[in-house]
Amino acid sequence: MTKKTQLHLNTNILKLKESATLAINLKARAARRNGDDICHLGFGQSPFHVHEKIQDELAKNAHQKDYLPTKGLPALCESIASYHNKRFSYQFDKDRILVGPGSKELIFQALYVLEGPVIVPAPSWVSYGPQLNIKGREIDPVITKSENAYKMTAKELEEACERHLDEEQKVLIFNSPSNPTGAVYTEEEIKELTKVCRKHNVIVIADEIYALINYSGEDFPSFHQHYPEGTLVSSGLSKSHAAGGYRLGFLYAPEGMESVIKCLSAMISETFSAVSAPIQYAAVKAYSIDNDIDNYIRTCTRVHEVCGNYLHDRFKNMGLSCSHPKGAFYLFPDFGSFKEKLKSKNIHNDVELSEFIFENYKVALLPGSDFYFPKDAMAVRVASVDYEGENVYKEASLKDSDSLDYSFVEANCPQLKKACDRLEEFLNTL
Ligand SMILES: Cc1ncc(COP(=O)(O)O)c(C=O)c1O
Repeated sequence: MTKKTQLHLNTNILKLKESATLAINLKARAARRNGDDICHLGFGQSPFHVHEKIQDELAKNAHQKDYLPTKGLPALCESIASYHNKRFSYQFDKDRILVGPGSKELIFQALYVLEGPVIVPAPSWVSYGPQLNIKGREIDPVITKSENAYKMTAKELEEACERHLDEEQKVLIFNSPSNPTGAVYTEEEIKELTKVCRKHNVIVIADEIYALINYSGEDFPSFHQHYPEGTLVSSGLSKSHAAGGYRLGFLYAPEGMESVIKCLSAMISETFSAVSAPIQYAAVKAYSIDNDIDNYIRTCTRVHEVCGNYLHDRFKNMGLSCSHPKGAFYLFPDFGSFKEKLKSKNIHNDVELSEFIFENYKVALLPGSDFYFPKDAMAVRVASVDYEGENVYKEASLKDSDSLDYSFVEANCPQLKKACDRLEEFLNTL
């Protein structure tokens, strides 16, 4: 008989479960393969194509085979800096940018390096918690209110900081536009938060992966503009440029945080070394000031906006509570007003609710509790991107803003309409 190998594994990692968003994607895809007509509102991947100019640049650079500098291709750092300085009036210095295989990895490394409690407004993106668990720590979620569109107030941040008065440094992860709510903080709200950050020595990781998908009507307000000395900015190509699979992200560390850059450069050099060279060359194009790519981002954003508005109005009309999305491609409706009626179907929390809807109505949603929100709030995360991106893009680019209306959504994004019809049918049975 062969002797069984004795395995001793890191208990921090053993406790992790598979990412909720990836798990629902696998489940929905498997059901689709079995012929089920699934409305997949669970997975947040931009459905559009990567702009042809970026694809061409990638093809042209297939021969680039050398390891690139740990901090990133200098030409790329330069184009990321000038792009953000032009688009958002930032003051990025190219030498303070680090390029990584997606912003997720860089957020992870930054969290690994920074000491202190990590405050996260909830609901929030699923991965911050597990990233910190790997380090043997837990996030401190601040449960926000639906009447504030799930945006953390300065008072809530102050209370959170007061829970950690004995710690000299605190970290805040700040994501606007937000996954999972579509909320965009206003300039005033950010200014109020920065006062608390200055008072309590809070280092902010501003997760700006959706910054270019902002349809709030205001120029994108950011922590970098109001609290540059304390803000690390992360972003990348995954959402605005629909290139999640390219795995290209960056992190900006401000003046005064040289030690962070030093630590992260060392971490990068001892882990992934550098992002794939052809991808970095292609990313130079993505971050160039180019009218065609700008128009592409604008068109994609207009589609995200009309789909978000459509779902919002349908949800409200069927009696769900839902705040209006202002960016990204998510909504966070809650079934709170149906709580009592749901009990008659043996549904007592958001997990049971999502499972019931998936099994009986073939609509894939994620429970709000996967986003650190209380289970009994009966909230779900909806991603508004279940449509054929390439066709929808072609149709949308032929139309002006005014004619991108709900009939456009119903004609071109039929799964979104179907999902709403099915949810309505479900609520009518209660
Ligand atoms: C809020 C948020 N931050 C960061 C990421 C990571 O993006 P990437 O690693 O592809 O840059 C995502 C991806 O889903 C996200 O939704």
